[in-house]
Amino acid sequence: MISSAETPLPGLFVAFEGGDGAGKSTQARILADSLRAAGHEVLLTREPGGTPIGEKLRGLVLEHGHGEVGARTEALIFAASRAAHVEQSIRPALERGGVVVTDRYIGSSIVYQGVGRGLGADAVRDLNVWATDGLWPDLTVLLDVDEAEGRSRRTAGDAAEDRLESEPDEFHRDVRAAFLELAETRPGAYLVLDARQEPGELAEAILSAVTSALEARSAAVRAHPGRVEARP
Ligand code: TYD
Repeated sequence: MISSAETPLPGLFVAFEGGDGAGKSTQARILADSLRAAGHEVLLTREPGGTPIGEKLRGLVLEHGHGEVGARTEALIFAASRAAHVEQSIRPALERGGVVVTDRYIGSSIVYQGVGRGLGADAVRDLNVWATDGLWPDLTVLLDVDEAEGRSRRTAGDAAEDRLESEPDEFHRDVRAAFLELAETRPGAYLVLDARQEPGELAEAILSAVTSALEARSAAVRAHPGRVEARP
């Protein structure tokens, strides 16, 4: 399950997910700029990272050169980074009524560690429910990209691949399939887009979905002041 049954917080939580090289960071930034221009308080953030300790954990888990990193260790580092991120940044911003836009969240752990590393989607989901105290996004934007296109985009300009990115094509093929499967289990909570579309077209589709979610959230706040149901 990718959305909480209930998120009694006034803000809106949007996550970007997808394979490496899908263009998530670019689209997250464009969305944040558009929402700020419309007068919203926006926290634009990323995982792993988003807090001082999270950025240290990011280095540990993504850089080469720390010796062997087992799958469980890897899952726990991502979850630890996420716990700090939710506690120190995301939840406070949502409590203030802001819009949080994060580049990756729990979906990445379910897919990369649960499926890619073979730890099991359910086990990794449960670990992350605990780490975040059950905070799920209201809307997840999945930018779908196939492994060949993703690899050619991320290595353009000789950019070095991190520990996860440098996994073989089969790993990234499984990651892509698992993201699509996850989205199918909660269609109402996902916007799935073909990452090969023009960046401007993608940005328009994303802003339109987020604007609808914001309107639904405002209507829910008006209908039930003091108790806000999460979007499905
Ligand atoms: P990302 O920040 O998207 O990479 P970059 O900014 O270098 O483009 O993500 C870093 C890598 O971490 C990516 O390969 C996916 C992986 N990852 C996981 O395996 N599990 C997780 O929970 C998260 C958040 C990321």
